[in-house]
Amino acid sequence: MTSILFVCLGNICRSPTAEFIMKALVREAGQEDQFTIASAATSRSQWGEPVYAPAAFQLARHGISSKGKFAIPMTAADYDKYDLLIGMDNGNIRQMRRIVGDDPAGKIRLLLSFAGREAEIDDPWYTGDFETAYREILEGCEGLLRYLQDHQA
Ligand code: 4NP
Repeated sequence: MTSILFVCLGNICRSPTAEFIMKALVREAGQEDQFTIASAATSRSQWGEPVYAPAAFQLARHGISSKGKFAIPMTAADYDKYDLLIGMDNGNIRQMRRIVGDDPAGKIRLLLSFAGREAEIDDPWYTGDFETAYREILEGCEGLLRYLQDHQA
């Protein structure tokens, strides 16, 4: 069993998109029972909000529902609870380290690093480009699934 927490600033755009794309990918791969997948925010300001409509729309366009997801803040306890805590940009990584402290197990990673590039996923809340964010998050999640398939059992 591998547990993954996707993290962004608000948990209403990028990290829930990653959560639901990754859940769809592992379902398609028939590996649903091998993963626990969730998402959370470094900020508390969107706590309780549903996935932001333009992000939910991109998921829905690809046949993926995000119904029932409401933003939650990540906590220091998440460090022990998850095998990987995956941020979308360098600001997320800095805030995650602030919340959990040290990262002795190297669990805190940037999503696109699994796609072979140390690039950030720009926040569509500010860029307005939800299509690019979706495409880059899919690229990261596909890389992550390949990485996990290579490193599990
Ligand atoms: P996210 O986007 O981090 O991808 O969920 C954001 C959503 C809301 C805000 C910032 C980022 N906000 O400041 O309200």
